[in-house]
Amino acid sequence: MQSCIDCHTKETPSIVAEWKRSKHSTSMVSCLMCHGVQHTSAKDVDKAGTVKPELCIMCHEPQGIQFAAGKHAMAWKAVQTLKEAHWQPMAFIEGIKGCDSCHKIGFKSEKEIHELRTEGAGFGIASCDVCHTRHSFSVEEARQPQTCRVCHRGFDQPLWEMYASSKHGIRHALKREGALPENTLTPTCQDCHMQAGDHGVKTAWGFLAVRMPMPEDKEWAAAQTTIMQALGMLDPKGKPTPRYQRIKELDLARLTKEDWQKERDRMKKTCLECHPPVFVDRLFENADRMVMESDILLAKAIRIVSGLYKDNIVAKPWNYPYSFPDFFAVHDARTPIEQKLYLMFLKHRMSAFQGAFHTNPDYALWYGLFELRVDLAEISALDKQLRASAKKRK
Ligand code: HEC
Ligand code: HEC
Ligand code: HEC
Ligand code: HEC
Ligand code: HEC
Ligand code: HEC
Ligand code: HEC
Ligand code: HEC
Repeated sequence: MQSCIDCHTKETPSIVAEWKRSKHSTSMVSCLMCHGVQHTSAKDVDKAGTVKPELCIMCHEPQGIQFAAGKHAMAWKAVQTLKEAHWQPMAFIEGIKGCDSCHKIGFKSEKEIHELRTEGAGFGIASCDVCHTRHSFSVEEARQPQTCRVCHRGFDQPLWEMYASSKHGIRHALKREGALPENTLTPTCQDCHMQAGDHGVKTAWGFLAVRMPMPEDKEWAAAQTTIMQALGMLDPKGKPTPRYQRIKELDLARLTKEDWQKERDRMKKTCLECHPPVFVDRLFENADRMVMESDILLAKAIRIVSGLYKDNIVAKPWNYPYSFPDFFAVHDARTPIEQKLYLMFLKHRMSAFQGAFHTNPDYALWYGLFELRVDLAEISALDKQLRASAKKRK
């Protein structure tokens, strides 16, 4: 039998070259350790073994345990479980252009792997290689903030953009360019989110920026309740729904005080490595207030749209369970007022609070809070127009 490497040096020379650069090549982790021995020629390529994260974890247990406890392990399940986000045609969701290209990260069942290989993108099962790119599987590459940029960027989470133009990111860039020395202090995404190499990424507020128990401030608590109603987590009476249960299972939000505080404390510890406690406490206080300010504006807008559904002025889509907009069905928005509301939720509120936490006042204020105010003014004006023309029709 011709060896894997002999034949692949001809067939896929760049893969062999990358593998030769990896620590695996010098540690006896050869092709067949990951792909098996079933495939031996060009005729039986379909027999080559699929690499799952479970395989990497067999040899890298500590990272595996951490990874399993974090949010990345859930990314795949989140899009599979929240079918509401899937009202759109599947062709858009599957494959390289859709949700999978970012959400492929995480554990999958044998059935899902089979489907991905035969009908879906056909790649991206191993998960660990989103940061340790095959076949060099490098630690150095995974340590660069650009690694996270592939997914954490753009429309609803411009985290790379915020970081790159923040004090921290700019200093990092200057260091990379050689303008500042190698030992220049400045944190990367990994320093803050993967402290001491911890693979279990998770934050206090998460992506949705809702939590339990409710904040003490009454107006803020009312706003968070309204937002959770639009997320379908609470019913119109404020009682948890079946979706609340699913969100809990997927760990989409921290739903106990301890859970939330644990992540907050972990994060603060990182800042304290370089900044004094007074500075850090005030920063987090301010950023939490930015969540509050944004919530109050968004909640007002939700109540307006909800009122239009209740009064039958805008038809409530059939698939929304309550007289509330359903933020998980973003792609369904039909009328300009609903579309505005989704922008508020998915773009401007995200910018406001993500910018505040990523020390980027430009995103927090101009792309965030300011836009939210403009949105609310426009939604209020549209509400008046819609109600006036409904009256005329009667
Ligand atoms: C005689 C040549 C030959 C030998 C020996 C060989 N391969 Fe391949 N292998 C190929 C060819 C040709 C392809 C298809 C490449 C392409 O898509 O262009 C392939 C594809 C693959 C793939 C990709 C499968 C997929 O689903 O796309 C993997 C993984 C792989 N080989 C691993 C191995 C391993 C591991 C061994 C040793 C046990 C091995 N190969 C031995 C020729 C060979
Ligand atoms: C540490 C595990 C590991 C080792 C060692 C390894 N591979 Fe892979 N290989 C992977 C992963 C992970 C993928 C991506 C699979 C996916 O996305 O479904 C992959 C994919 C491939 C592919 C498909 C083309 C591509 O890049 O998507 C080929 C061909 C391949 N490997 C050949 C080899 C050959 C030849 C060797 C030895 C020189 C080798 N592999 C060693 C993990 C490994
Ligand atoms: C058969 C065991 C085995 C498997 C399977 C395996 N590795 Fe490794 N891996 C090793 C060994 C051994 C080393 C070298 C350890 C060292 O030198 O400290 C290593 C090193 C690494 C490193 C550190 C590289 C560096 O530059 O320091 C990373 C990252 C890594 N592996 C990721 C992966 C990923 C991702 C997978 C799955 C696609 C995987 N490994 C599968 C055994 C394995
Ligand atoms: C392949 C795409 C991809 C890459 C690359 C990636 N992530 Fe993620 N990340 C995701 C997805 C998808 C989620 C959401 C998972 C979920 O909520 O189910 C996520 C979640 C997170 C979370 C949890 C946020 C929360 O809700 O609390 C943090 C923190 C995070 N990633 C940081 C990073 C860092 C740091 C890097 C780079 C070292 C990185 N990610 C690289 C796709 C990626
Ligand atoms: C460019 C990469 C990318 C694409 C494409 C993408 N997502 Fe995401 N998505 C992410 C990241 C990264 C997160 C995590 C953000 C965070 O936790 O702050 C996320 C979070 C989510 C969450 C919330 C998870 C949580 O923990 O709150 C859901 C649900 C979701 N995405 C669904 C989808 C659906 C459905 C699609 C396709 C229509 C999609 N995503 C397309 C990268 C992407
Ligand atoms: C979100 C990006 C990301 C993902 C996904 C990821 N890693 Fe890592 N990994 C890193 C970073 C960053 C480091 C370097 C940590 C440090 O600086 O100590 C690292 C380090 C490692 C190391 C080297 C540890 C050491 O001390 O030398 C191994 C081994 C490893 N990862 C394996 C894995 C395995 C296995 C998976 C999948 C279960 C995985 N990684 C998924 C980013 C990632
Ligand atoms: C200086 C530390 C720091 C750096 C650097 C940093 N973050 Fe964050 N990140 C935070 C803090 C603080 C939060 C909010 C934590 C909380 O909820 O209490 C956060 C929240 C997040 C979240 C979850 C909520 C959201 O905004 O969607 C993700 C995902 C995330 N960061 C990814 C990244 C990525 C990717 C990078 C690099 C491009 C990065 N972060 C750089 C500190 C940092
Ligand atoms: C590895 C060290 C390091 C870590 C960790 C770190 N920072 Fe920084 N930070 C710096 C440096 C250095 C500066 C630039 C100092 C300056 O602006 O005078 C800076 C600047 C800042 C600034 C801008 C201050 C100004 O004067 O404009 C803010 C805000 C900030 N950091 C917040 C945080 C927060 C919040 C965390 C934790 C989530 C954190 N930093 C973690 C090193 C760090």
